[in-house]
Amino acid sequence: SPHFEFRDGVLHAEDLPLTNLAEQFGTPLYVYSRQALHDAWEAYRTAARDRDVLVCFGMKANSNLAVLNEFRKLGSGFDIVSGGELARVLAIGGDASKIVFSGVGKQVWEMQAALKAGVKCFNVESEAELVRLSEVAQQSGAVARISLRVNPDVDAQTHPYISTGLKENKFGIAIETAVAVYQHAAALPNIEIVGVDCHIGSQITEISPYLDALDKLIVLIKSLADKGIELKHLDLGGGIGIRYTDETLLSPTVLLDKVFQSLETHGLSHLQLVLEPGRSLVGNSGVLLTTVEYLKHSEAKNFAIVDAAMNDLLRPTLYDAWHSVEAVVPRENTANDTVYDIVGPICESGDWLARDRSLHLEQGDVLAIMSAGAYAFTMASQYNTRPRAAEIMVDGLNAHVVRPRETLESLFAMETPLD
Ligand code: LLP
Repeated sequence: SPHFEFRDGVLHAEDLPLTNLAEQFGTPLYVYSRQALHDAWEAYRTAARDRDVLVCFGMKANSNLAVLNEFRKLGSGFDIVSGGELARVLAIGGDASKIVFSGVGKQVWEMQAALKAGVKCFNVESEAELVRLSEVAQQSGAVARISLRVNPDVDAQTHPYISTGLKENKFGIAIETAVAVYQHAAALPNIEIVGVDCHIGSQITEISPYLDALDKLIVLIKSLADKGIELKHLDLGGGIGIRYTDETLLSPTVLLDKVFQSLETHGLSHLQLVLEPGRSLVGNSGVLLTTVEYLKHSEAKNFAIVDAAMNDLLRPTLYDAWHSVEAVVPRENTANDTVYDIVGPICESGDWLARDRSLHLEQGDVLAIMSAGAYAFTMASQYNTRPRAAEIMVDGLNAHVVRPRETLESLFAMETPLD
C-alpha cells in the first residue's frame, strides 16, 4: 500500500515513522491509515459508477467505531452478523436502511433489535429462521424484509479455495430448495421478500466462482419471477481477496462490469446490487507493530520472540495464514540475515506469527506485521491475561488513539472471587 512505505529507510504510516508510534504508544500496536481506508472505498465507488450498488462493509473484519465512521461518512452500509455489531453501527449514527443482517444463528433479541432499528434486509439462512423471524415480526408489529441466503454449491473441484459456497457447509439454503422456501416465505405473515443473497467464501482472487454463482442465482431469480415473486436486490456477499504476498487480484471494477453485463443480458438490470466486502476494504489499511524481546538460537531453529502473539493476530495459528513481516528500520547489511520464526510469548506451540523469514534482527527491533487491518483486532483475545493492544488511526501527520491499550485491572474487573 502506498500508505505504508519506506521513507529514508524507515517504514511510515502515511507521514508518520512507525518508530515514533511504537515509542509513543508502545507495542503491540495496531496502526491504521485513514487514507488507505478511503482508497479501498474508492475502488468500489469507481467500480460502481452510476449503477445501483450498495456496498455494505462486512464489519466483522474490523469493527472499530473510527473505522465504521469513516465508511459511514463515505456512504457505506454495513453487513452485520450480531446484535453487538448492530449496536456498534447505531452507536456511530449509521443508517439502518443500509444494514443487511447475515448469520446462521440469529437469536430472538437480535431479530427484535434489528426490526426496531429498521434494517434493510435479513439474510435468512434456514427455514426455521424464517419461521422464527415471522413470529418475532408479528410480536413486534413490524415487517421483516428478507433475502434467502442461498448456497449455490459452486464446484469445489474447479475452485478449491471456496469454503462457504459448498453443499456440505452450514451456510445458506441449498439452491435446489430455494424456490420452495421462497414460496413458504411469501405465505408467512409479516415477511416481505426483497432479495436474494449468497456469500461463497473469502480471499477469492478469481472471478469465475462469482460468475458461476451469479449464473445459478439468475436461474433462481427467473423461476421466482415465474411464480410471481419479484426481487428488488441481489446480494453477492463479500470475498474479494487482498495481497498478502504476491497474489494477483480481482478488481471490483472487473467484477462489477461482468456482473452487470450478465444482468443486462438476462433483463435483470433493474436489480440493485448489494456487496458485503470486509477484508478488501480494510486488510491492507493496517499493520501490527511488535518489538523483538529476545532472539533465541537452537540447533533446529532461530526464534525471534516478540511481544505480539496469537491473541493479537490469530490468523497464522488458525489458518496457517501468511503475513509479510518488515523490520521498521531494516539493516543495510543483508549478508547477516538469519532465517527466523517470529513467535509470541504465549504458552502454546501454535503461537507463531510468521515462519522462516530472512531478517537481520537485534533485540529491541520493531517489526511490522503487514495486512493486519482485517480479522486481526476483531479476532483478538485476552488469552494469558494479555490486554488487547491499542488501535491508532493515522491521518497524515496525526495519530489518533481510537482504542487505548486495555488496562490489566479491566481484564478481571467483572470477576468475583468467592470467599
Ligand atoms: N458476508 C458474509 C456473510 C460473510 O460471512 C463474510 C465473511 C463477509 C461478508 C466478508 O467477507 P470478506 O470480504 O472479508 O472476505 N477470519 C477469516 C475470514 C472469515 C470470513 C468470514 N465471513 C480470515 O481471517 O481470513
